[in-house]
Amino acid sequence: ITIRRATIDDIICMQNANLHNLPENYMLKYYMYHILSWPEASFVATTLNVEENTMEQLSLEDGKGQEVKLDPNYLAPGEKLVGYVLAKMNDDPDQQDQPLNGHITSLSVMRTYRRMGIAEKLMRQALFALREVYNAQFVSLHVRQSNRAALHLYADTLEFEVLSVEKSYYQDGEDAYAMKKVLKLDE
Ligand code: ACO
Repeated sequence: ITIRRATIDDIICMQNANLHNLPENYMLKYYMYHILSWPEASFVATTLNVEENTMEQLSLEDGKGQEVKLDPNYLAPGEKLVGYVLAKMNDDPDQQDQPLNGHITSLSVMRTYRRMGIAEKLMRQALFALREVYNAQFVSLHVRQSNRAALHLYADTLEFEVLSVEKSYYQDGEDAYAMKKVLKLDE
């Protein structure tokens, strides 16, 4: 598994992973907004997809001009997206009295790649970049009260604290925990 900075070429695959993994989805232009405005804040986890490489080589070899079917998770030849973190700085004009702060818009890891530490690595990269590159003093996020996996990651592994409960934050009426982590220089 490789963790690298997300680029504009990754956003279709990030959106695809988001649609697979979460009910909160965003238009492609919102991904673009993140990557263009804060190009160093978002990350992807990728793996080499040997099968697809082989498929491509086979179809090239038999020379029948067959169309190569592209998997939506297909990046560079042999590279497949297995997780992402979409992060931004808070640019709400109503909150300009606050110290600079970052926000985790979305995080997910494809099901078969979970519980391998990928989300933790993605988050640590994003937190580091928000602090070092964009000078964020703290970072915030929202998470469903029922999301045990994500709550464990945020509260226990990454030591976010619950700031408040936002009633009916999600479209289906579920409440969200608003969470926050103060970013220190040495993390
Ligand atoms: N139940 C309990 N704890 C869990 C679970 C689980 N199902 N999954 C992971 N954890 C724990 C791990 O044990 C680990 O704890 P440790 O530090 O004590 O060892 C910690 O969480 C981090 O585990 P990772 O392996 O890094 O997490 P993973 O790569 O599996 O991804 C994630 C976690 C992103 C929540 C994944 O389950 C997922 O994609 N879920 C669906 C999408 C989602 O809920 N995203 C978060 C929404 S909130 C937002 O986007 C701001």
